Amino acid sequence: MDPNVYESVKKSINRQLRIDLTYYKDEQMRRRLDSWLARTTLSSWDEYFLLINSDEKELTRFRNYLTINVTEFFRDMDRWKSLMSDVLPVLLKEAAEKKPPSEGLKVWSAGCSVGVEAYTVAMILDQMAPNKKHTIIASDVDRGALEKAKAGGPYLADEARNLTDVQKRKYMEPSGPPFYVRKSLTSLINFREQNLMTDRFDNNFDLIICRNVIIYFTNEAKSILYPKFQQALRPGGILFLGGTEIIPRPMEIGLKNHGISFYRKE
Ligand SMILES: C[S@@+](CC[C@H](N)C(=O)[O-])C[C@H]1O[C@@H](n2cnc3c(N)ncnc32)[C@H](O)[C@@H]1O
Repeated sequence: MDPNVYESVKKSINRQLRIDLTYYKDEQMRRRLDSWLARTTLSSWDEYFLLINSDEKELTRFRNYLTINVTEFFRDMDRWKSLMSDVLPVLLKEAAEKKPPSEGLKVWSAGCSVGVEAYTVAMILDQMAPNKKHTIIASDVDRGALEKAKAGGPYLADEARNLTDVQKRKYMEPSGPPFYVRKSLTSLINFREQNLMTDRFDNNFDLIICRNVIIYFTNEAKSILYPKFQQALRPGGILFLGGTEIIPRPMEIGLKNHGISFYRKE
């Protein structure tokens, strides 16, 4: 796509979908947009924007495509295992020393998509520290994804393929697949709409999980976002990123490597 066309497409997307593509890598996004238009019978973006003005379903499909909503329970199982073996024991021990006895961890799943990342951490905390009252916040910019997250499904068998039979029995309604998360778990999570680039962050988190979100952002957006996460953590708190999301010089922004994918606030 020609850069001038991309500029005008970006403006229309911002106007009609309230998604600001300035934060996303240009080349990758231009390629994605080209292939999206190519799958329609339309010959120009002007025609496409007229179409989504009146076609709600197409607008939703386009929004999902742009925000790249791929996700599953326990995505990258090895990293979640490290969270359970190397990170949570430390955070839970510190919480036991510093917080009132019933209080658990304060956790944020940032860019939670349809919610399975937040449900994953809720299941883990229920297994590891069942008698504590944890605060779990989950946010995304995509309203449609959040609606599914709040409803606790439906999730396809594929999205739930990493769950054990025991976990399915304990946390899912018995009717699936498709699976619905039980009320006992959905009620533990506070889902909210939030744009990571423009909205303010809550603070004092023990754990922030932001996986497979930043990967699509420009370096400039990353350099704004990482320090914002650092400020949102309590001292000693942990940032959990996706497999390919690496902070180049974490010490410069007050973070320290804590194994692969984890950064601890100084
Ligand atoms: C690939 S999904 C990742 C979902 C989940 N974190 C995981 O790893 O399974 C990326 C999510 O980031 C969200 N996202 C993208 N840009 C965002 C922004 N500026 N603010 C908040 N969420 C954003 C998208 O809407 C999408 O749901």
